[in-house]
Formats: sequence, C-alpha cells, structure tokens
Amino acid sequence: MKAPMSPWRRRAASLALAAAVGLAGAGAGLGQSDEDVATAKSLAAMLRAGRAVVSSHQTEINDPNRGDKGLTGDEAVAEAKAGYKAATGEDPDAVDPSSKRGRLLKAQMDVIKEVFDANQATINAKGIDFKGFIPAVFGRLVNEAFSRRAGAEAEVKVTAPPDLVRNLKAQPDGWERQVIADRFLKPDWPKGREFSALAEANGRPAFRAASPEYYASSCLACHGGPKGDIDVTGYPKEGGAEGDLGGVISIILYR
Ligand code: HEC
Repeated sequence: MKAPMSPWRRRAASLALAAAVGLAGAGAGLGQSDEDVATAKSLAAMLRAGRAVVSSHQTEINDPNRGDKGLTGDEAVAEAKAGYKAATGEDPDAVDPSSKRGRLLKAQMDVIKEVFDANQATINAKGIDFKGFIPAVFGRLVNEAFSRRAGAEAEVKVTAPPDLVRNLKAQPDGWERQVIADRFLKPDWPKGREFSALAEANGRPAFRAASPEYYASSCLACHGGPKGDIDVTGYPKEGGAEGDLGGVISIILYR
C-alpha cells in the first residue's frame, strides 16, 4: 500500500470515526470525503512541484548570457510530474481522468505547460539577469489560469498571514484568516499539519483545505531582513526568519 496516511486523510478518517461513534463537538469537519481530501492534496502537491521546476532552474533563468534554455512547457510539465511522483509516490498520469481528482489534476498540468509556453520570451531573454520569473509569480499565474479553466469547480490560491501579503490578490479571506490566526500561527500547531473543513468560499458551500508553508533560508533574500529593505523584486522585505509561517496553499472544492 501507499505511504503513511497524510494529515488531511488522517483527519478525515478520525472525523469519520467521530461521526460513527456520535461524538458531539466535531461538527466543523463532518462530511469531508476522502476524495475531497485526496484531491486537495494532489492539487497542492502539483503546485509545489511546478514551483520547484522554476526554483531548480532559477540561476539558469536569470542568466543574461544564455538565450534558449530549452525549458519549454513540455519539459517543465515532465519535470513537474517527476517532482510530484517523488513527493507523493503516485504517477499523476495514472490518476483516473474521469474522476474529479484526475480531471482537476490534468487541468493543473495543462496550465503549468501553458504558463511556461506563454513565458518563453521572458525565460529566454538575453541581456537581462533578473526577469521576475520566480516561483511565487509562476504559482500565481498557474492558479489564475486554473481558475479560468476549472473555477466553477475548484480553486487553488497561495495566501499568507495578512501582515506579510505582497500581492493584494493573495489576501486571505475570512476562513483563511481564521485558519492562519487560530491554527497555523499558534505555537502548539504541529509544523506542517494541514487543516480542512466544510465552509463557505465566495458565498458557496465548499470543501476547503489549507496547507502551511514556512520560510526556508532560500526565501530570506526576499522575505528576510532587514525589514523594509527593498528586495530584488522591488517589494519591501518582511523581516521573516527561517521556519516562520510564510504562506498557505489554500484549496477550494465547491460542492
Ligand atoms: C526573488 C525574491 C523572492 C524569493 C526568493 C521568494 N519570494 Fe515569495 N514572493 C516574492 C514576490 C515578488 C511575491 C509576489 C508575487 C506576485 O506577484 O504575486 C511573493 C509572494 C509570496 C507569497 C504569496 C503571498 C503574497 O505575499 O503575495 C508567499 C506565500 C511567498 N512569497 C512565500 C515564499 C517562500 C516560502 C519562499 C521560499 C521558498 C519565497 N517566497 C521566496 C518574492 C520572493
């Protein structure tokens, strides 16, 4: 069988158990299906795998002396699929394309290809070192394209604690704000544990899942200190430290 149960899956299982034995007070999480949990997990994993393609090629992308980098949409998707497989143990192409999870994952892979293809001129520009094609920007473009394609059914967003938000589009909504404040920022919240619940999103009932992301040392060139200094992208640095909560991948599956 597969690797140990994911936290989301464990949570769904324990909630199912709570429901089965009629425990009171667990209301917030009741009714979450394993399929929703697995779908949210897959979409978060593929977004991470896509961003990792950008970060693993960042030096090359920023090289002003090199033109064509060969980092086409097809190449990027192949690398993202490999990264997804390494992280999850699952071949994304093997997910049943007629299932909701398979369909949404396919749409996400398609937009990863689309965003790389649409940015070839930027990626391959000679004479420019920093081109602004970084994981956060790439991730946002992918999530926006995903919304255009699948937004009636699902959305993927990267948000952050309100005081850290750079792009206004990334601002957390009420549910995300609450998960960040009441869970992810609490000192006793286990590092990396995800949270999911049935809740409204944009006025519609939804399954919602949130996965915390923490600053690594590689993030601090832009998000570290000294606070307020301008980073290479033109934004003021947040003064963050390694291990701080830097953001949240938020997944919405409308019901
Ligand atoms: C080269 C500078 C740079 C580095 C390095 C960097 N970021 Fe960012 N980050 C940005 C920029 C610029 C944005 C705004 C992107 C946009 O236009 O949406 C951003 C946005 C984000 C967001 C989305 C919310 C928001 O504020 O708009 C999160 C979360 C985030 N970064 C976390 C990280 C983490 C975690 C790392 C390390 C793994 C990292 N960043 C590395 C520059 C950087």
